Amino acid sequence: MIHIPRAEYTRRRKALMAQMVPNSIAILPAAAVAIRNRDVEHVYRQDSDFQYLSGFPEPAAVIVLMPGRQHGEYVLFCRERNAERELWDGLRAGTEGAIRDFGADDAFPITDIDDILPGLIEGRDRVYSAMGSNAEFDRHLMEWINVIRSKAHLGAQPPNEFVALDHLLHDMRLYKSAAELKVMREAARISCAAHVKAMQASRAGLHEFSLEAELDYEFRKGGAKMPAYGSIVAAGRNSCILHYQRNDALLKDGDLVLIDAGCEIDCYASDITRTWPVNGKFSPEQKAIYEIVLASQEAAFAQIGPDKHWNQAHEATVQVITAGLVRLGLLQGDVDELIASEAYKTFYMHRAGHWLGMDVHDVGEYKVGGEWRVLEVGMALTVEPGIYISPDNLNVAKKWRGIGVRIEDDVVVTKQGCEILTRGVPKTVAEIEALMAAAR
Ligand code: GLY
Ligand code: MN
Ligand code: MN
Repeated sequence: MIHIPRAEYTRRRKALMAQMVPNSIAILPAAAVAIRNRDVEHVYRQDSDFQYLSGFPEPAAVIVLMPGRQHGEYVLFCRERNAERELWDGLRAGTEGAIRDFGADDAFPITDIDDILPGLIEGRDRVYSAMGSNAEFDRHLMEWINVIRSKAHLGAQPPNEFVALDHLLHDMRLYKSAAELKVMREAARISCAAHVKAMQASRAGLHEFSLEAELDYEFRKGGAKMPAYGSIVAAGRNSCILHYQRNDALLKDGDLVLIDAGCEIDCYASDITRTWPVNGKFSPEQKAIYEIVLASQEAAFAQIGPDKHWNQAHEATVQVITAGLVRLGLLQGDVDELIASEAYKTFYMHRAGHWLGMDVHDVGEYKVGGEWRVLEVGMALTVEPGIYISPDNLNVAKKWRGIGVRIEDDVVVTKQGCEILTRGVPKTVAEIEALMAAAR
C-alpha cells in the first residue's frame, strides 16, 4: 500500500515547530469516535490536522508540541495497551508503540492528561490550538489553564496568548509534497478505475445504487477504506441536484447519469465527476451541453499555473459556458452582459473548484489580503464546471430540461502549468461512447 512515510511526519512537525513563536505549545486532539446507533460506531476517520502531524490512527489521543523542550518536543497522550479491550476492538499502539512506531519523544496514558498537561503548558507564553472547532476540547483546555491559574499564588504562570493553529498548519497542508502527491495519484488511479467500471456496467433497468456498488467494489479492492465523501450517482433529472445522495432511482434508456465519487487513500481524497448516457450513446442535446462543459474545463486547465490567480480558472469556465448557452439559445443577449448580470447562474451555480487534499474540500485560504491567491507549485485543486438545466425550467424548450452535466478532474500546479491526476477515465464523447460500446 502506498502511504505517507514516517519520516515525513517528523519533517512536518519540525516545520510547524519552526514557525511557532519561542516558548509556545501546540495541542491537538484526535477525532472522537462517532456513534452511528447504540453500540455501533461509524468507521473511524482520524482528524486531518492530527493525522497530518502524527500518522497516529487511534482515537482518544492528544498531540503536544513544545519547540525547544529539552526533554522532548513531541509528546503524545494515547490509550494504554489493554488485553481485554484489544480482544474486542483490536490492537492499540500504547505509549511504548507511540514512541517506537510513531516517533513520539515521550508518551503518557490519555487517562493521565489532566494531571500532566497543565504542567507542560505552565510557563509557556502562547498556546496554539484549533480553537472553535471542538467545543469539548476547548472546554478541557480552559480547565487545564484554570489548574495553572489556581496555582498562581505559588508562582505558576498561565499562558497569556491563545492562537488558532489553523493559519500555520493549513497553509502547510495546502502545499503537497512529493510523498503526498504519490498518495493522491494512487487515490486518483483507483477512482478512475472505479468510474471506468461504472461506465462499463451502465444499463437501462439497473438502479443508481447498482453503479454505486461498482464504485465501492473498486475502491475497496484498491485498498481504500472508504469513499472520500458520499458518492453521488444521479440519473436523469437527479443530475440537476448538486449534492444528490439518495442513489436509488432507476436508470432509464435515454437519460444521462452523473457520478461524482472518489476514494480516500491514507486520508487523501480524490474527487472525480463523469457524466455519460445510460445507454452508451449521447442524444444531440446531451452532446451539445456536454461539449460546452468539456470545452470550459479545457479553458480552465489553461488558466492554472504558477503565474495565475485562483479565480482565473473559474472565470474561464464562466466565459465558455455563457457563450455556449447563448449559442444554443438557452440564454439570450450579450455574453459580457450576461456574465456581468450573472445570468449564467441559472445553469451554472457553483464554482469551478476547490482545494483538494486530506479533506475533499481542503484547507487553505482562497484569498490573501483581499486578493485572489496566486497559485504555486504543489497546490492541488479540482476543476469541475457543470451545466444543469432544471426539469422545471419552463423558459427553455422541453428537449433541454433535466439535462445535468458536470466534469471534474483533480490537478496539481506544476512549474509548467498543471498535472491532471485523473486522466485515467475517458472524457470525450467519442472516448466514452467507444468504451461503453466495447462493454456491451
Ligand atoms: N464531491 C464534492 C465536490 O465535488 O465538491
Ligand atoms: Mn466532486
Ligand atoms: Mn469537487
